[in-house]
Amino acid sequence: MAVTSEQSRDSGQITRWARPTEPGIFPEQPDELTHFMMVYKFGLAEIETKIKILAEELAHKGRGNPIEHVSPRLKTPVSIAAKARRIECPLTFDDLRSRIRDIAGIRIVCSFVSDVYTVADMLTRQPDVNLVLTKDYIDKPKTNGYRSLHLIVEIPVFLSDRVVAVPVEVQLRTVAMDFWASLEHKIYYKYDPDIPPALRDERPAAAEDAARLDKRMERLHHEIHGPRPQP
Ligand code: GTP
Ligand code: MG
Repeated sequence: MAVTSEQSRDSGQITRWARPTEPGIFPEQPDELTHFMMVYKFGLAEIETKIKILAEELAHKGRGNPIEHVSPRLKTPVSIAAKARRIECPLTFDDLRSRIRDIAGIRIVCSFVSDVYTVADMLTRQPDVNLVLTKDYIDKPKTNGYRSLHLIVEIPVFLSDRVVAVPVEVQLRTVAMDFWASLEHKIYYKYDPDIPPALRDERPAAAEDAARLDKRMERLHHEIHGPRPQP
């Protein structure tokens, strides 16, 4: 069976639930929307299982589990609609499917920077995982200091009558990067334009502190245990 993008059956349905500011937007979730969301849930479950297998097997091999924690999330229909508006994507299932690639997302928090790349490699080398896009914000951090490795991968999901290639956004980062990103989001989210420049400029400096800590912890680990065995 060929792996294809799913065709929508009734794109018009989406306008019924896509007005986030209106009350009663989800009167009774239409079948099409439920099916649309379900496919992403399955894709996410597939990736989550792969990550759990890697973590458990590496721990069993005595290499030390490189994964500290994993958090999967599905965008809600309301936030899909909000993103669609922001990027001027028409509210049809086909357009959403092709233009919004982070409906399913998973964050993988690793111990050390080298683990981020090892786990990314182990995942994307699997023959059923198709790497679509890489954004390496560790190599090239955002101007505010944000660091993480972002991948868009496609994973086949076997439905009753066809196979669907489901995109999943995978964010990999260290504990220190995660600490920075979580608190940065809390401190600055929604207030960005109003922040005095001096305070805004502290973000990259704080991110540098976190990156230095990452380097230091990795060096300590290396000195005590030697290099992590490569797969
Ligand atoms: P989105 O439309 O937000 O998904 O952005 P994008 O399509 O340009 O993708 P990008 O890879 O830049 O960022 C996707 C996700 O990474 C965001 O939804 C956040 O989870 C995270 N992220 C990106 N930049 C920042 C940042 O500056 N601070 C924090 N805390 N998180 C960020
Ligand atoms: Mg996103």
